[in-house]
Amino acid sequence: MTVSIIGAGTMGQALARRFTTAGETVLLASQDSGKTAKVAEEAARGVNGTAEVVDVARAISSGDVVIFATWYPVTRDLAARHAAALKGKVVVDISNPFNESFDGLTTDASTSAAEQIAAAAPGARLVKAFNTTFAPVLAAGEIGGGPAEVLLAGDDEAAKAAVADLARRTGLTVIDAGALSNARTLERMTLLLVELQGRYGLAFQAAFRLVPGDPAATAA
Ligand SMILES: NC(=O)c1ccc[n+]([C@@H]2O[C@H](COP(=O)([O-])OP(=O)(O)OC[C@H]3O[C@@H](n4cnc5c(N)ncnc54)[C@H](OP(=O)(O)O)[C@@H]3O)[C@@H](O)[C@H]2O)c1
Repeated sequence: MTVSIIGAGTMGQALARRFTTAGETVLLASQDSGKTAKVAEEAARGVNGTAEVVDVARAISSGDVVIFATWYPVTRDLAARHAAALKGKVVVDISNPFNESFDGLTTDASTSAAEQIAAAAPGARLVKAFNTTFAPVLAAGEIGGGPAEVLLAGDDEAAKAAVADLARRTGLTVIDAGALSNARTLERMTLLLVELQGRYGLAFQAAFRLVPGDPAATAA
């Protein structure tokens, strides 16, 4: 599978390494091609998968899954600019629309970054994923002695299944959080997690975990 990642910062790097480690083909597009080339080199070192630097248009056209690992306003603008090419694509939004002091969101409670991005690129098969998973936890793939969990939300079940399969292949546990409108809650959950990790001095080593009475219920 070809996984395109737009943005090669903290999350872009963690995602790229997870996917190359699982043997996937990664296309990376960001602003600074020199910086991005180093990220690609690091992502592909000693693993079966590959990582190549491309521009945003090529990342979108060639990706089976296109992940925006950029900040919300950038993702929304890129989604609008590339809306035609994104039609029919499985697109992942990982953003949390934090304000400058990281103690609130810039979106109104009646919507979410994910829904605004979906509106900017009509026809894109949008899935909210990875936004509740801090980068160090994503990079390690585990926390507290168990696999890290990724919460997914989306209205296109096939797109959500494709992202779920991809995440599982990298060793993560997937929790289906329902419709795309539940991104409103997922984004606010991360706001709370930022508060909690600061309050308890957890250095971003913190995550949500669903603890079912019957573990088999969420195993599929
Ligand atoms: N960090 C976390 O633990 C975490 C956890 C969950 C979700 N998130 C979400 O993940 C997203 C990225 O966070 P991050 O921490 O990875 O941020 P980051 O380290 O600042 O990375 C952002 C990346 O976006 C690139 N970028 C900016 N404008 C671009 C454009 N027009 N085209 C292509 N690439 C562009 C930047 O390139 P330059 O460096 O060249 O500007 C940089 O590589 C945010 O929406 C955040 O809310 C983060």
